[in-house]
Amino acid sequence: MAKEGTEIAEETEQMIDQKEPDNPVSAAVDPKEMRAVVLTGFGGLNKLKVTKKPMPEPQRGEVKIRVKACGLNFLDLMVRQGNIDNPPKTPLVPGFECSGIVESVGENTKGFEIGDRVMAFVNYNAWAEVVCTPLDFVYKIPDDMTFSEAAAFSMNFVTAYMMLFEVANLREGMSVLVHSAGGAVGLAVAQLCSTVPNVTVFGTASPFKHEAIKHSVTHVFDRNIDYVPEVKKISPDGVDIVLDCLCGENTGKSLTLLKPMGTYILYGSSNMVTGETKSFFSFAKSWWQVEKVNPIKLYEENKVIAGFSLLNLLFKQGGCNQVKTAVQKLLSLYDQKKIKPVVDSLWALEEVKEAMQRIHDRGNIGKLILDVEKSPTPLVSDVFTSTWEVLKGATEEESDKIVFLFLPSQKKI
Ligand SMILES: NC(=O)c1ccc[n+]([C@@H]2O[C@H](COP(=O)([O-])OP(=O)(O)OC[C@H]3O[C@@H](n4cnc5c(N)ncnc54)[C@H](OP(=O)(O)O)[C@@H]3O)[C@@H](O)[C@H]2O)c1
Repeated sequence: MAKEGTEIAEETEQMIDQKEPDNPVSAAVDPKEMRAVVLTGFGGLNKLKVTKKPMPEPQRGEVKIRVKACGLNFLDLMVRQGNIDNPPKTPLVPGFECSGIVESVGENTKGFEIGDRVMAFVNYNAWAEVVCTPLDFVYKIPDDMTFSEAAAFSMNFVTAYMMLFEVANLREGMSVLVHSAGGAVGLAVAQLCSTVPNVTVFGTASPFKHEAIKHSVTHVFDRNIDYVPEVKKISPDGVDIVLDCLCGENTGKSLTLLKPMGTYILYGSSNMVTGETKSFFSFAKSWWQVEKVNPIKLYEENKVIAGFSLLNLLFKQGGCNQVKTAVQKLLSLYDQKKIKPVVDSLWALEEVKEAMQRIHDRGNIGKLILDVEKSPTPLVSDVFTSTWEVLKGATEEESDKIVFLFLPSQKKI
């Protein structure tokens, strides 16, 4: 399992020890080059490097974006580990979404002009100073939306929207169960549920997040406990919609909780991530534990089982128009101030390892953003040094408390 508490402290200490001498790749001055995060091979954090790459130029139908902010998703952690189906060849530039300013356009890019503020999906290559992507995946953003918000918007809100409204047909008075409720997709789900009258949201999350999310999630449970009896105490008939990003044994539990005419959607497999590198044991265990579904049973019980992958819909299944419609509806909800991305923290490109470790350690509430213009903040700040001095002389019980107090202060915003 991912590490928590004092284990996080050990991990962080090792990271500080191993931190390369401050040598960030300086902002590119050669107009033919740009800075980018490169994944040199599948594996641990040491496979990530910031380096210079040739400047991309837009092809026909493409828009060139001077990137301001990039979204860091749980999926990027799985890509780094090679924990995905048909992984592409390395080296590669990771990242699937960014925001920024249109710098130039290729032929046949009607609707976009130099200077437009945009957010975009990219089929890899997002974690760079400059990105070129087909205009089908680019959306103009409102004047009052910051670049960080925009980079936290598309993947999470589109995924949440498509699942709730396109697949499960969320309506007034329904109930929804969502896991990782304090994460980026989880909070987008909770916000979208609040746009429909009288929807009850059940969520699971690490205990330290409960206070922060209690206003958006109606009933929040510790992710370490068996949530099935807890949900049944409140709603004996179960729930109308289950959104499962964990997979494994969770699939069976979720189906038990589903009401007749209810919809279960599998959209992730976070349970496969345990250590820093891919574990074949966790991979096999997760798939082995998945409930084997008998269609005849589904028919008798009136249950719907579905799956959702936004990136496959966009990049493999030609779903860009469906996604565009969803983005328009979501931007309208943003304009009406009904939804707003929650940004957990901002990180420089050179801090990508620390940012990934934070999501692995379950430390985030909302979205992690790589801010392309941000300078790296040395991890060993005065606060850190003094905290470390205190830790050295503390008992195990005291250090648990100190680490817990200290960690939130690492937040960058
Ligand atoms: N299908 C799609 O189109 C699609 C699109 C976007 C995201 N997703 C999936 O949605 C899920 C959430 O993605 P996100 O980017 O929004 O991430 P996130 O929820 O912001 O961050 C990860 C959170 O997941 C929880 N978690 C569960 N299992 C974990 C594990 N083994 N290791 C570390 N953390 C774990 C932790 O929260 P707690 O400790 O509080 O539980 C952690 O803070 C992921 O499974 C992702 O692959 C799918």
